[in-house]
Amino acid sequence: MSEDDRIRWDATYSSRRGPAGEPTPPPAFAAHTDAFPVRGTALDLACGQGLGSVWLARRGLDVWGIDVSAIAIEQATELAARCGVASRCRFDVVDLDDGLPPGPPVDVIVCHRFRDSRLDDTVVKRLAPGGLLAICVLSEVGAAPGRFRAAPGELVSAFTELDVLAAGEGDGEAWLLARLPGPAVSGR
Ligand SMILES: C[S@@+](CC[C@H](N)C(=O)[O-])C[C@H]1O[C@@H](n2cnc3c(N)ncnc32)[C@H](O)[C@@H]1O
Repeated sequence: MSEDDRIRWDATYSSRRGPAGEPTPPPAFAAHTDAFPVRGTALDLACGQGLGSVWLARRGLDVWGIDVSAIAIEQATELAARCGVASRCRFDVVDLDDGLPPGPPVDVIVCHRFRDSRLDDTVVKRLAPGGLLAICVLSEVGAAPGRFRAAPGELVSAFTELDVLAAGEGDGEAWLLARLPGPAVSGR
């Protein structure tokens, strides 16, 4: 990511002075929380202030949240501590333009309101058997076309190796909840 973009994200998060309210499931998946396990490991890509990460940690998962903004990562770390789940959370500043940082397969990958199609293959490979991908991106459906917006049907087409549990697009967003075939982590 360019230095200008990183500074812009830092400024955005500085102006918010930390997340308001309680950690919540990523809004696109609020109606599907039962699909998420209550143990295992999760990776939250472009985690922002960590609301989704901490929600997953409170469910019982060990979560690694990564984001390019050091301010967001600071706020996510504080949120995890405030919510008593610091021991189940790790947050790091990572520029996903350099690819996914190495690590073992995980049971859940969340990618909420961030899109880099260059990561699609690596994301699928990073899922453990039965692992869940929850991804929500900007879409052209219900919005004007734009550089960062997925074309109609693009998200489902990008992850054909996964079994779709639920998907939708409209109002400028596309989202997908899908599972890699195989036995899922126990404890749902
Ligand atoms: C719209 S916010 C979404 C944050 C969070 N997932 C949520 O739903 O609240 C997009 C996030 O992507 C992060 N981001 C943008 N480009 C990135 C990159 N190249 N590497 C890592 N994070 C990036 C930004 O810092 C920002 O936190």
